[in-house]
Amino acid sequence: MQNDPAAPVVDPAHARPHPTAGEYRSAVEQARRAAAAYYAGEQTPLDDADYDALYARIVASEREHPQWRAADSPTAVVGTPGGDVEHSTPMLSIGNVFDREGLHDWAAKLDKALGRPATPYTVEPKIDGLAIAVRYAEGRLVQIATRGDGYTGEDVTSQARLIAGLPARLSAPVTIEVRGEVYMTDADFAKGCDLRLAHGEPVFANPRSAAAGSLRAQRVYDVPLSFMAYAAHGLPDEHAHSHSAAIEHLGALGVATTASSSAGLTVCTDIEQVTAAVAALGARRGELGFGIDGVVVKADLTEDQAQAGYSTRAPRWGIAYKFPADIRTTKLLRIDVQVGRTGVITPVAVLEPVQVGGVVVTSATLHNFTDLQRRDVRAGDTVHVRRAGDVIPEITGAVHDARPADAEPYTPPVSCPRCGGDIDRSNLRWRCGRGRACGEKATLLYYTSRDAMDIEGLGEKILDALLAAGHITDAADLYGLDVPTLAAMDRLGTVSATNLVSSIAATKARPLSRVLTGLGIRMTGRTLSRRIARHFGTMDAILAATPAEWEQVDGIGSERAAVIIAELAEVAPLIAKLAAHGVNMTEPTGRATATAAEADTATDAVLPLRRPDGTPMTVVVTGSVPGLTRNQGNEAVEELGGKSSGSVSARTDFVVVGDGAGSKATKAADLGLPILDADKFAQLLTAHRTGDHDAASAILDTVVRFTPADDLAP
Ligand code: IVH
Repeated sequence: MQNDPAAPVVDPAHARPHPTAGEYRSAVEQARRAAAAYYAGEQTPLDDADYDALYARIVASEREHPQWRAADSPTAVVGTPGGDVEHSTPMLSIGNVFDREGLHDWAAKLDKALGRPATPYTVEPKIDGLAIAVRYAEGRLVQIATRGDGYTGEDVTSQARLIAGLPARLSAPVTIEVRGEVYMTDADFAKGCDLRLAHGEPVFANPRSAAAGSLRAQRVYDVPLSFMAYAAHGLPDEHAHSHSAAIEHLGALGVATTASSSAGLTVCTDIEQVTAAVAALGARRGELGFGIDGVVVKADLTEDQAQAGYSTRAPRWGIAYKFPADIRTTKLLRIDVQVGRTGVITPVAVLEPVQVGGVVVTSATLHNFTDLQRRDVRAGDTVHVRRAGDVIPEITGAVHDARPADAEPYTPPVSCPRCGGDIDRSNLRWRCGRGRACGEKATLLYYTSRDAMDIEGLGEKILDALLAAGHITDAADLYGLDVPTLAAMDRLGTVSATNLVSSIAATKARPLSRVLTGLGIRMTGRTLSRRIARHFGTMDAILAATPAEWEQVDGIGSERAAVIIAELAEVAPLIAKLAAHGVNMTEPTGRATATAAEADTATDAVLPLRRPDGTPMTVVVTGSVPGLTRNQGNEAVEELGGKSSGSVSARTDFVVVGDGAGSKATKAADLGLPILDADKFAQLLTAHRTGDHDAASAILDTVVRFTPADDLAP
C-alpha cells in the first residue's frame, strides 16, 4: 500500500455493500491491519488499489447498514494510534477525485460554499511519503512529529534531524510550524536497495516503505531521506494571504517545498487551467525523480480557504486528484528465461494480470539472476510490480509473509535455454557463451519462414548444415550461395541446388514489409511490420525516422518506438548487407498496386476480411478464441485482412464472441451487429491459412445479423 489509507481511491457510490455483518466485520479487521502496517512502514499484501476497494465497500456497507458501524472502522479512525506530541491543529486527510468530472464536481461545490467562483487555484504534487509536522522556534528546529492518529503523533526529532530539505536553522528567527512529507528520492531508493542487498538485508518494496522504515529505525540511515513542505502555520500576515505566498516564503527560509521541487507549484485562474496542469504533471510523473501518487489542488487564497472550511474529515478547499497506482501486488505465476538477440539471458516474471499505472501488466523484468536470488523471489509469491512512466514494469520484491508453504527457491538455468551452450557469468547480465551466434539459427529460421521471406525448399536441416559448414552466418549470406556449394552438400543434388538458388534469389523482390518481418524486430510482428512498411515506404525512411515520426504509425507509442529504434540500430549492418545483395527495400505503393489492399493481395492472395472495394472490415474480438491468446485473436483479424478494434460501435462490421465475452457482446447485440462464434472464427483462420478459400467464404456466410427486428420476430 502506498496511498494514505485514510483516503479511499474507489468511489463508494459504485462499491457493493457486504452481504452480512460478519463479512463487514472481517473487512474492517483486514483494513485495520493493513492501515497499521502502512503507517508502520511495514509490508502488506494489500496494495493501494486493493485497500481502496476494501475501504469503499466498508463505506458502502456503513451507508446501507448504519447499525453495523464499528467504532474501530477505518472510516472513523485516522491513521494509527497517536503518540506523545499533540498537534497544534489536527493533521487531516484530504478528499480524492479520479477524473476530470470529479474535479469539476469538487470545484462546483467549492464555488457553492463560497457563493462565488474560487480563484486562483494551486496545483502541486501529492508526494508519496509520510506526513510530518515540524516546529521551529526562533528559527531553530525544535521538534518533529509524525501524523499519528491526526491529533497526536510520535516524536521523531532525533531520527529526522538529518532529512534533506529540512534545515536545522532557518534563514530568519521565526517561530512557525511546517507541514509536509518525508520521502525517498528514486535515486536514493535505488542506492538504498543496493546497499541493503549487499548487506544481505531484505530490500524495501517501494520508496514509501523505505522512507517509513528509515524514519522509524533508530539508527543512521542507509541512505538519506528528503522532505518537501506543503503547508505552514504561524507565518506573519504578509506571507500568509495565500498558499502560494506561504510556500514561496518557506522556500526563502530554506525549506524544500512543492514549489521548489522538479514538479513545481502552478497557480491557475480557473478549473480548465487546473485540468491542464494536472495532466501536464501526470505526463511527467515518471521523470520527477520522486514518487507522486497524484496532484493536490487547493484554493490559493487564505480567505477562500477560511470561508470554505472543513467537512468532518477533510478540508473543502483542497482535493487530491489521484493517479492510477504505479505499484501493485499480484501473483508471480512463473519465472521464464529470455535469450535476447545478442545472447543476453534474463529472467522474466509471468504475472497474474494486474492494472499498474493504468495499463494491464502480465509480465515484468526481474533484472538479473543475482538480483532475483538476493531478493529471494519465487514462483507462487505475491510480488510488488512497479511501473514508472513509460519504462518496462519491474518486480521490486516479494511479500515474504504471503509466501505459500510449498514455494521453491528459484534455480537459475545451468546452460543457455536456447542453444544449450555454456553461460558466461562474468557480468551481472549473463550471456550465452556463443553471444550473438546463439540466436543465428532462430533468426535465420524466422527470416526464411512463410510469414517472412517464405523461401521455398529451405528447411531446418539444410539451414543446420549450412551453419555447421560455415557457409552462412546470417540471412544475407543466403544470397551469396551458389549451385556448386549447395550441390556439394549432403542431401542436395544439382537439380535441388539449382532450384534452391533460384527460389532464394526470387525472394529479393519481396516487398519491404516481408524483409522487415524477417528481421524479427522485437515488439513488431507481421501485421505491424506491414503497417510500418506502408507508412514509411522505404527502408531508408524507416532507418531515418525520429521517435516522433515513429509515433505517427498506428499502434506505436513511445515505449514501442524506443525499442524498435534500438533494435533497428542493432540490425543496421545486416540490412546494409541484404541491400548490397540486391534485396528490395521498398514497399509497393501507388498505381502499380493501387491500394494497400491490393499490395496485400499481391503477396497474400485472397483476404477474407476485405470488402470488394479492398477496404478492411472492422472486427471486434471479445472472449477467448480457441487456440489463440487475446493478442493473437486481434492479429488473426489483421492476418485475415481485417482491422481489429477494441470497442464495439455502429461502424463495427461484426463481432467475434467467445467464452468469457462480456459487455462488448451485449453491446453488439444491442446495436444489431453480426456475430461470429469464436469456434467458427478459429475455423476461418485455419481455412485461410491452408488456402481453402471456399471453406473460408462458407464460414463468413454464416455470420448472422441479429437485428432488433429479428429479436422481435416470432
Ligand atoms: S495538503 C488538510 N498537499 O496527502 C490536509 N497534502 O491524503 C491538507 N500530501 O495528509 C493536506 N502531498 O500527508 C497536501 N501537496 C500536498 C501533499 C499532501 C502529499 C499528503 C499529506 C496528507 C495526505 C492527504
